[in-house]
Amino acid sequence: MSIYLNNAATTWPKPRCVPEAAAEFLARGGGNLGRGTASWRDLATLNMVLDCRIRLAKLFDGCDDGNPRYVTFCSGVTEALNVVFKGFRKSFFSSAPKTVMRVLSTSMEHNAVVRPLRGMEGEGVATEFLECGPDGALDLGLLEEVLMDGKFHLMVLSHASNVCGTIQPLEGIAGLCRGAGLPLVLDSAQTAGILPISASKLGLAALCFTGHKGLMGPQGIGGVVWDPGFASRVAPLVEGGTGSFSHMETQPWEMPDKFEAGTPNLPGIAGLDAALGWLEETEIEGIRERESKIGEYFLERLQKAGGVLYGKPTMEGRLAVFAVDFPLWPPSDRKNTKMWDNGILADELSKRGFETRPGLHCSPLAHKTLGSFPKGSLRVSPGYFNTPEDIDAFFDAVEAVKECRDECTGKN
Ligand SMILES: Cc1ncc(COP(=O)(O)O)c(C=O)c1O
Repeated sequence: MSIYLNNAATTWPKPRCVPEAAAEFLARGGGNLGRGTASWRDLATLNMVLDCRIRLAKLFDGCDDGNPRYVTFCSGVTEALNVVFKGFRKSFFSSAPKTVMRVLSTSMEHNAVVRPLRGMEGEGVATEFLECGPDGALDLGLLEEVLMDGKFHLMVLSHASNVCGTIQPLEGIAGLCRGAGLPLVLDSAQTAGILPISASKLGLAALCFTGHKGLMGPQGIGGVVWDPGFASRVAPLVEGGTGSFSHMETQPWEMPDKFEAGTPNLPGIAGLDAALGWLEETEIEGIRERESKIGEYFLERLQKAGGVLYGKPTMEGRLAVFAVDFPLWPPSDRKNTKMWDNGILADELSKRGFETRPGLHCSPLAHKTLGSFPKGSLRVSPGYFNTPEDIDAFFDAVEAVKECRDECTGKN
C-alpha cells in the first residue's frame, strides 16, 4: 500500500496523458528542435514546443498578449531563478560596474532563492531578507516602508511557502513594487497550476515556474515567463548553439533563442504540454477547490489528533501544504535518539506506506521564521488525487506509531 502525501515535493500520480506523451515523443517522434530539415519529425517537435510555449503564455497571462517568444524553457524553477539573477547581475555590472546591486527578498524563501543570492554576496550583490510574521506572511506595511528609499534593484518572492503553505499577498506586493519601479521576480513553484497568476496584470518582471509540481508535468522541465522589457535587461547566462543564427559566433539576443542554448528537455516539454492540456480541461478553479476541501478535512482531523500546526490555522490564505508536529515523547522523557521526532515519525509512517517529508525542506530561513528551526517539522502535502479516506488512514497510522513509539525506535 502507498498513500502519497508529498505533493509539495513533486505531484504524484501524474495524469496518464503525461507519461504517455513523454514516451510517445521518445518512441515515435524524437526530432531535435530546429536542428534538422522540414521533415515531419522535425516539424512535429517544432509544433509541440510551440504549443507548450503558447499554453504557458496563456496560463500565466504573459505580457505582449501572451507572446510565446517570452517563454524560456530550463530545467526547473531553480535553474530559472539562476538564469534571472545571474543574467541580471551580468547586465547590471556591465552598465554600472561600481554600484552595489541590492536584492530584496523574504525570510520565507526556499534555498533555490536563498543560495544563489547568498552566493552572489561578496561579488557586489547585497541581499536583504525581510522578516515575515510567525504565520509566514509578509506585512505590506513593512514592505512599503523598506521600499521608501528606493535603494533596491530587484525583488524576489516565493508566492507560497513550500513549508507551511502560506500564500503571500501577491497583489499588494506586486502593486508596491510597481509603484516603486522595482522589478519583481516570482518563484511560483508551489502555486503554478493551483492558483491563477496573471504575470501581465501583476506586472511581474519574470515568473519562474517548475513543471513537476502543480503543473502536473515531468521533472526536469520548467522555465521563465518574461516581461519583454525586463528580458532585454538580462544577459544570457548559458551560451551555445540554438539551431538558429549559426553564422554568429556570439549568442543571439532574439527571443526565445537568447536564453535557450543547447538542446532542451524535449521529452519533458512533451509531458508538460500534455499536462497543460489536462489542466485546461480540469480547470485550475476546480483543482484549488478540491485541494482546499481535502485541506479543511486534514485540519479538522489534525485538531482532533492534538497535532501542532505551523502557519495559518484555516484554509484561508494557505495551500494544502502542512508543517506539523506530533511530539512522540515529552521533552523530559526523550533520551538517546539523535533524530527529531518528525524524522522518526516519517520513517515509521513510510514503513506503513505513507509518504511525507520531515526536516527542514530546503528552507532553513522559513523554519526560523516559523519557530521550528533546527528540528524542522513533518510536512504533509495532499494533492489533487488524495481522498478523505487517505487522510483518515494517515491519522490512524500516526496513532499506531505513537502507541508503539518505544518499540519503533528501540532507542528510548
Ligand atoms: C518554493 C520552491 N521554490 C523552488 C523549488 C525548487 O524547485 P525545482 O527543484 O523544481 O527547481 C521548490 C521545490 O520544492 C519550491 O518549493
